Amino acid sequence: MAFLESLFSLESKTAVITGASRGIGRAAAKVLAQAGANVVLVGRDSKALAETETEIVSAINVTDRTHCEIGDVTDSSRMMEIVSSTLRRWKTIDILVNNAGIIRRAAAADFSAHDWYVVIDTNLNAVFSWSQAIGKVMIEQGSGKIINIASLLSFQGGLNVVAYSAAKGGVAQITKALSNEWAKYGVQVNAIAPGYLETNATAALRADTKRKEQILARIPAGRWGEPEDIAGAILYLASPASDYVNGHVLVVDGGWLAY
Ligand SMILES: NC(=O)c1ccc[n+]([C@@H]2O[C@H](COP(=O)([O-])OP(=O)(O)OC[C@H]3O[C@@H](n4cnc5c(N)ncnc54)[C@H](OP(=O)(O)O)[C@@H]3O)[C@@H](O)[C@H]2O)c1
Repeated sequence: MAFLESLFSLESKTAVITGASRGIGRAAAKVLAQAGANVVLVGRDSKALAETETEIVSAINVTDRTHCEIGDVTDSSRMMEIVSSTLRRWKTIDILVNNAGIIRRAAAADFSAHDWYVVIDTNLNAVFSWSQAIGKVMIEQGSGKIINIASLLSFQGGLNVVAYSAAKGGVAQITKALSNEWAKYGVQVNAIAPGYLETNATAALRADTKRKEQILARIPAGRWGEPEDIAGAILYLASPASDYVNGHVLVVDGGWLAY
């Protein structure tokens, strides 16, 4: 294999992607499969997951490198079943993309305890649980790549999204803490902090025309991002090209943070 090709090849690797039914998760699963990986697509919406699978199969022209697992990332017994069934099917888990996430918007003074709990449980607790369960497999293998999807709100506080900011700040810290412990086992733990992307998660924000324009005006690249804008960073952090990159939070935001 030519050097350049080998840098980015995921041939014979297996990747688990949470929240693969749409948005960033779908784009991540697609690029990993196109680079040669078997992909396990995790999500709650079976119809949307099946659409992701169909898109990938038509892109790679192979039917035996995708598998859908319906499940809620906060359900730890379901998580353990998915880990076991993946190991039975493909023997190793080489890449984990902790992507599943939700956002709840309300002023901090009125933020409900329920919304606080579900956001922290989905966006932070599940990132740790999945990293721990699959990290153990990777330590045993002596190799692995964990990619956490963080946010600009890993660095900034945001407005009306206190639980989301708390969780995403935690995701950046989990990334560094796990990296410190697991780098010596050949397990790279890194994160991507996407800027403002046009996905379901930002539909409410974009429906507010004034807010949408304010955000656009502050993005040096002059446009909102698409899920596909994250694909290159996913491939980089999943592939041998990033073998000496540890505990990094890679910002992909059209220049927002630098502004
Ligand atoms: N869009 C942005 O501008 C932006 C910016 C920074 C960071 N992010 C982060 O990027 C990640 C993906 O977001 P997105 O923008 O692609 O949003 P999205 O289109 O709403 O996708 C969210 C994904 O998460 C899954 N999910 C949510 N809760 C889940 C649960 N409890 N169990 C299993 N799957 C669950 C959803 O799957 P099901 O519906 O099938 O359960 C869906 O596939 C999130 O972590 C988000 O915080 C997004």
